[in-house]
Amino acid sequence: MDTVLSGIRPTGNLHMGNYFGAVKNFLKMQHEYNCFFFIADLHSLTTHPTPTDLHDNVRKVLAEYLACGLDPEAATIYVQSDVPEISELYLLMNMNAYVGELQRTTTFKEKMRKQPDNVNAGLLTYPVLMATDILIHRATKVPVGKDQKPHLEITAKYARRFNQIYKVDYFPEPEAFNYGKDLVKVPGLDGSGKMGKSEGNGIYLIDDPKVIRKKVMSAVTDAGPTEPHQKMSDGVANLFTIMKIVSTPDMVKFYKDKYNACEIRYGDMKKQVAEDIVNYLNPIRERIQEIYADNDYLRKVVNMGAEKARESASKTLKDVREIIGFKPF
Ligand code: ADP
Ligand code: TRP
Repeated sequence: MDTVLSGIRPTGNLHMGNYFGAVKNFLKMQHEYNCFFFIADLHSLTTHPTPTDLHDNVRKVLAEYLACGLDPEAATIYVQSDVPEISELYLLMNMNAYVGELQRTTTFKEKMRKQPDNVNAGLLTYPVLMATDILIHRATKVPVGKDQKPHLEITAKYARRFNQIYKVDYFPEPEAFNYGKDLVKVPGLDGSGKMGKSEGNGIYLIDDPKVIRKKVMSAVTDAGPTEPHQKMSDGVANLFTIMKIVSTPDMVKFYKDKYNACEIRYGDMKKQVAEDIVNYLNPIRERIQEIYADNDYLRKVVNMGAEKARESASKTLKDVREIIGFKPF
């Protein structure tokens, strides 16, 4: 059975983009593949979080993952820093990673530009740690968005390189995993192409109905179509995209017809979208609150995850140490 692996940096609450673009697919995958879902807290250190923020953010993502329906019995759900084998393999992988190629990585160049006063070495070797995350479980399928593709290519390269250097066929080359045909990209309601944390346009799973209504009502639209079947502006198209995700097909058709007949009232449409988002997210929000307050349960989940993840990781590390030539006397 294929091994699927996905990591998420704990940098705040999950939004609808995270849910519909990633987590919702995990719910099905976890019953079809050998799945590893982990919280990449070591990765998040590149941005120097405070100790309190670091812990709170791990807790948040964990509670939200579980509330969405990730099942710790079906999948291995763990916190990266609970698996020390990752740090050791990372050290070994660094020896065959070249500074030049890391400096040329597009994601690194972008970070240099965005945070020029904090270009730490962890940032440079970020792809090595990510490759380690994947290779330590010898995962073959990695569901990633477009922005993470360069990292996955580097991972495949390092797997190949390791195999070549040591003349083994040990690490499989992972591939980007598009589960299902249509990858959902959730747009922002501010007219931008993507809903995201850094874009500041997120509707969060934890948002209460009042907040959701306010956010949706302030969505960017336009003055309305003036001729039948007019091309939609970005803002209006985004509103329809979100409606398709949360509303019934009949409802979408109703407003499409209204739009095409130049009779649409965006205010009504927004109210409908807001209610459908609220109804969709209500049970998830309630579960988040319940799980977040249940520290015993959270502890049980991370302990179980760490145990399962370490079992798989330590096996790989033992093999790698042997392949490299660390031998017992
Ligand atoms: P953000 O862009 O808010 O920082 P992350 O990069 O932490 O979000 O997102 C983690 C994963 O969630 C991404 O790899 C991607 O699979 C998914 N994701 C995030 N935003 C969206 C979106 N707007 N549409 C679809 N998927 C998304
Ligand atoms: N780099 C990923 C991101 O920023 C998070 C991540 C870390 C990851 N390790 C991973 C994703 C391994 C997939 C596999 O979104």
